[in-house]
Amino acid sequence: MERTTESPRLGGRRILLGITGSIAAYKAAVLCRLLKSAGAEVRVVMTPLAKQFITPLTMATLSKNPILVEFFDPENGAWNSHVSLGEWADCCLIAPATANTLAKMAAGVADNLLLTTYLSARCPVAVAPAMDLDMYAHPATQQNLRTLAERGVRIVEPAEGELASGLTGKGRMAEPDTIAAFVGELLSEKKKSLQGKRFVVTAGATIEPIDPVRFISNHSSGKMGYAIAGELARRGAQVTLVSGRTALPVPEGVDRVDVLSAQEMFEAAAEAFERADGGVMCAAVADYTPVAAADRKLRKGDGELTIALRRTRDIAAELGARKGRRLLVGFALETHDEVAHAEEKLARKNFDFIVLNSLRDAGAGFRGDTNKVSLIDRTGREELPLLSKTEVAARIADRIEALLAPEA
Ligand code: PMT
Repeated sequence: MERTTESPRLGGRRILLGITGSIAAYKAAVLCRLLKSAGAEVRVVMTPLAKQFITPLTMATLSKNPILVEFFDPENGAWNSHVSLGEWADCCLIAPATANTLAKMAAGVADNLLLTTYLSARCPVAVAPAMDLDMYAHPATQQNLRTLAERGVRIVEPAEGELASGLTGKGRMAEPDTIAAFVGELLSEKKKSLQGKRFVVTAGATIEPIDPVRFISNHSSGKMGYAIAGELARRGAQVTLVSGRTALPVPEGVDRVDVLSAQEMFEAAAEAFERADGGVMCAAVADYTPVAAADRKLRKGDGELTIALRRTRDIAAELGARKGRRLLVGFALETHDEVAHAEEKLARKNFDFIVLNSLRDAGAGFRGDTNKVSLIDRTGREELPLLSKTEVAARIADRIEALLAPEA
């Protein structure tokens, strides 16, 4: 009889343990044992190369389940369904994860059972990288890890120490007890309040070309919209961030679509809104664009220059007209008669609520890390103090959550 010290975090949880071809695969045996003795159910998927490092017999004995390596069982042709494995698991843990497997995960390659399972998994995914220090430090590996992290994959940092090559540095897989604790933490994280919801967020400034070197734009840095996208993603939502040009990094777990003009922003936002539960229109969109952008640089003359402008499409108003049961949040950036203008936009663009910021308030509006806003809906106005843009984003997300709650 196996002795177990059931852990509240891991007890009864279903863990899919992926093992790849690394010398650290021997630690997967200890890891499997730790997970089992904490009360978890463990199924193991190995890459073909992993079998060279640790035997399927060892892992089958420890996990008390058959080991899966191939798409088909060579004995009887039975299909090993990566989809049902992905659905079965509460957590998919790949330990050790080689540079090769990380690269394939980042690229979406699906040439073995472990990779197809990863691509099908809807549960949290964690990887414990294991490789030589130079491979770990290589920009390609670091980029792959960043890509995976941005998509929500959790990384168990490798440790520094002596490596299989004899060199010393960072790349050693974390110890099994560290990995088991990490998975326990991951599984105990509160269920995300916006899990299963999709949002489109617009952010930043649009750019309307006058000629190949000049354009019409505004001062928006994208900070406010990026903070909202990041906050919604942290609460479990799937977020498409339609972004004007900015130097900001993509918030973790957010899909960014880069656009330049108001027309491009309209097309990307309208497409994402089709599949969304809601939208937050934070971008500062040009209301006018040159009737025709010159294809050669305009020469300067002595007199005045007049550029004919035409209206751009109002993204928020068009989405508001077609929103149906979806939620739509707008912004109003004002310089005078703030509340009246915001209320007019709330009604005309069919927003559920509007976030008013005024350039008359110190610390509000463009570029800075703070904002001072009022949240206005058809029942009234809530004025917030000067807050960081991250905190403003949290207050907006709280409202969105309340509006999407079943009893709302
Ligand atoms: O990016 P930061 O530097 O952090 O600055 C943040 C911000 C000041 C840009 C942000 O807080 C803000 O106020 N964004 C909205 C700016 C704006 O264009 O407001 P508006 O009052 O002109 O537009 C009203 C609403 O219609 C907004 O939701 C806007 O996104 C939307 N709109 C406007 C015109 C248009 N053609 N399409 C739109 O969707």
